[in-house]
Amino acid sequence: MFFTSRLCYVYIPMTPLSESSPKTTSPWTPCPVLGIESSCDETSAAILSSDGTVLSNVVSSQDSVHRQYGGVVPELAARAHLGTIDRVVQSALTQAQLTRQDLGAIAVTQGPGLAGALLVGLNYAKGLAFGLSLPLIGVNHLEGHIASAWLADPSFPFPCIVLVVSGGHTHLFRRDTDGRTQLLGCTRDDAAGEAFDKGAQMLGLDYPGGPAIDRLARQGNPKAVRFPLSRLQKSSLEFSFSGLKTSLLYRLRGMDQSARTAQAADLAAGYQEAIVRVLVDRAFVAVKSSGVQALAVVGGVSANSRLRALLTARAREEGIRLALPPMAYCTDNAAMIASAGRQLLISGQPPSADLEILPSLRAETYMDRAPLHAR
Ligand code: KG4
Ligand code: ZN
Repeated sequence: MFFTSRLCYVYIPMTPLSESSPKTTSPWTPCPVLGIESSCDETSAAILSSDGTVLSNVVSSQDSVHRQYGGVVPELAARAHLGTIDRVVQSALTQAQLTRQDLGAIAVTQGPGLAGALLVGLNYAKGLAFGLSLPLIGVNHLEGHIASAWLADPSFPFPCIVLVVSGGHTHLFRRDTDGRTQLLGCTRDDAAGEAFDKGAQMLGLDYPGGPAIDRLARQGNPKAVRFPLSRLQKSSLEFSFSGLKTSLLYRLRGMDQSARTAQAADLAAGYQEAIVRVLVDRAFVAVKSSGVQALAVVGGVSANSRLRALLTARAREEGIRLALPPMAYCTDNAAMIASAGRQLLISGQPPSADLEILPSLRAETYMDRAPLHAR
């Protein structure tokens, strides 16, 4: 996992992720961008038009490869990417009704993620960029998730709070008008998505766990089995989900198989409620303490139906503008990577032909660069 320390505020404009990046002399003229994402268990390619509109966003999920193991097996993920990536890129081009010759740049996820999986996407992107003499830009996966907030809502305002909730991250940021990004807080232990996945495994549900809990919880009563809400200090902007997981474990230990089956939906609903209540609560503490009027919630867990309902109701109540990406942009996808890469190019980030993967890239690193989310 990629946890970061508490509050930090870093702004070093246009610092490249790779030390060896060549400097560009002329500004990048917007043109179609191909995005490639392969950091975990989704192989994805997307094309954005010159004005940033998503022309295609093809995602090939590896759920069926990893299901029998109950989680992502890195070696199998890398092999599956290898077998799929060319077809996925071709299909993104076909859906966008473009050819390779129409492309103006390639954006690829550089990290964080699984090393073998990242290598497949990055080397494919490198080869294609070399063959077509296109600029290649490396994107921090986290920055991609953040960019997804503006994909369906380009006028979403700054300053805003961004909550990134995925399988590896539970991070609260403040993003300012000039693109500066401040990390306000993150999880001390498990990420929200990890809590969903591990909880689902304990409940005997299918992989991936988040959607499985989401579905089952709809048939249950969230108040029937209550789980402790991991509130740290009232004003804290940090999260902790490991206690919740332990609480589920002890509850299940005290039940026989028939009780587990009979109460499965209530257990899922109660467990989910304990995760999403904390996420909503902390996000609005951040909104209030920062004095901003806008909140974006992004990443795989933002697909959760209960979380979306609670956020929507609370935002309406408090008069806060809320950005919740459409489902296709919540879980890993290349449209968000193409969008973040496009913003980097527009803001003057030099492309680099010799990118290396950065599997342990931390949240602070992407803050060194300041995408503008301008069209
Ligand atoms: O953003 P993402 O696709 O990959 C990472 O960057 O980690 O997020 C994957 C995570 C998984 O933990 C998955 O269980 C969770 O997002 N997830 C959900 C839902 N859909 C995906 N969690 C709760 N409810 C969902 N509907
Ligand atoms: Zn992700």
